[in-house]
Amino acid sequence: MKQISAGWLTALRAFAIGVAALAGLVSFPAAAQKIEGLALTPPMGWNSWNHYGCDIDETLIRQTADAIVSSGLRDAGYTYVNVDDCWHGERDAAGNIQPDPERFPSGMKALGNYLHARGLKFGIYSDAGMQTCAGRPGSQGHEYQDARRYAEWGVDYIKYDWCNTGEGVEQRNPREAYRTMSNAIAASGRAMVLSVCEWGDHDPWLWAGQYGHLWRTTGDIINCWDCTVSHGSWSSSGVLPILDQQAKLRRYGGPDGWNDPDMMEVGNLPKLAENRSHFAMWAMLAAPLIIGTDVPGMKPEITAILTNPRLIAINQDEAGQGAMKWIATPDWEVWAKPLADGGWAIAILNRSGETQRVTLDWGAVELKDDTFGRQTDFAQMHYTLTDAWTGSAQSDTRTPLTRDVAPHDTAVFRLRPMIL
Ligand code: GLA
Repeated sequence: MKQISAGWLTALRAFAIGVAALAGLVSFPAAAQKIEGLALTPPMGWNSWNHYGCDIDETLIRQTADAIVSSGLRDAGYTYVNVDDCWHGERDAAGNIQPDPERFPSGMKALGNYLHARGLKFGIYSDAGMQTCAGRPGSQGHEYQDARRYAEWGVDYIKYDWCNTGEGVEQRNPREAYRTMSNAIAASGRAMVLSVCEWGDHDPWLWAGQYGHLWRTTGDIINCWDCTVSHGSWSSSGVLPILDQQAKLRRYGGPDGWNDPDMMEVGNLPKLAENRSHFAMWAMLAAPLIIGTDVPGMKPEITAILTNPRLIAINQDEAGQGAMKWIATPDWEVWAKPLADGGWAIAILNRSGETQRVTLDWGAVELKDDTFGRQTDFAQMHYTLTDAWTGSAQSDTRTPLTRDVAPHDTAVFRLRPMIL
C-alpha cells in the first residue's frame, strides 16, 4: 500500500479540523486559560470611547486620571483608566505595535507609570481582526507579541474588540480568537483583565468566562433613554433597549465572569433622572461600572451619582448575582437583586414620562428567585429598608411601601434581614 507522507497527514488533519470547525464540531479545550481572580466583583473604571471617540491623546488621559483622583472617583472604586480605540500608530519593522507618535509622544509605558503612581490601573484596547473598528492595527497574528508589549507597558486590562474578523464562514472563530489572546496574556507573565467585546453575537455568556473576565452582551450603547440608532450594518441602543436584553442573561454572570451591558453613559444622558436610572440599573445588574463621560468637566450631581456608596455596594456585593425583573408593567418595573447578607436590593424603575405612584405591599407578592435559589416570604421574614440614594431609613417590610417615582427615575432600596 502506498505510504502517505507526514506532510500529507498534517494537511489532511488540518483540513478535517477546518471542516469540523466550520460544522461547529470542535470545542476548544475548556482548561482555564485566563488568569483567575482578577475581577471577583464587577470592574470599575473609566473608558475614553463613549465621550471622546477617536479624539484622544496622552494629555486628555492624564487630565482625566487627575480628575478621577480629585473628584473622589478613584477612592469610590473606579481604578481602571482604559484607553479605547485610536491610540495606535504603525507597527515597527519587527511588527511591534507602537502608539500614535503625535497623540502619545511620551509613549505608553510613561502613561502606565503616570496612572500607577496615582493608584490607578492601565487599560488598553485592541481587536481580534487585522484592524480595529476605527481602522487602526488589530492584533490578529500578533497576539503574543502585543500581549508582551502591553506587559512591558504595565497594562492591567485589555478590551478586545471584534471588528474586521471576516464575514460568514470566513469569519474568525470567536472562541479561538479570545482563547489565543487569553493564552498570550498568560504567556506575557503579567496579570491583565480580558474584556471580551464581540457584542453578544456568539452567545459569549456560554463560553467567554473561560478566557476573559467580562463579555459584552449587546451592540454599542448610545446616550439616549429609549432609542435605537441604525448605522447601516449595525446599530446602537439607549439605556432601556440594552436593559431589556439583560434579564435573561443573569444566570451567566458572577464573580470573575461578568455580563457587560456596555460602558456607562452616565453624565451623557439629557435628563438627570435618566443618569440616575442608568447608574441604578447597572448597579442592580452587577454590571461592570465603566464611566464614559468627560470627568474633568463633570457636574457635581453626576459625581454624586457615580460615587454613591450604597449603590456601589449593591453593585460590588460579593455574591455577584445580578437583579431579576420581579414585577413588570408597561410603565414601571421592580427589579430585585439578592445580596450576600441575605437581603435584597429593590429598584423601582419608571420607564414612562409620567410620575408613577408605586405601592409594594410586601406580604402580598411572592419574591422567589429560581435562578439563584432564593425565596423570601415577607409574612415570615421581615427586613429593614434603606433608601439607597439618600441613606435614610424607611419603614420596614411589615408595612407597604408607597413611592412616587419621577419620570425616567429609579428608586432603590436596600432590604436587610431584621433581627426581632
Ligand atoms: C466597537 C466597540 C466600542 C468601541 C469601538 C471603538 O464599536 O463595541 O465599545 O470600542 O468599537 O472603535
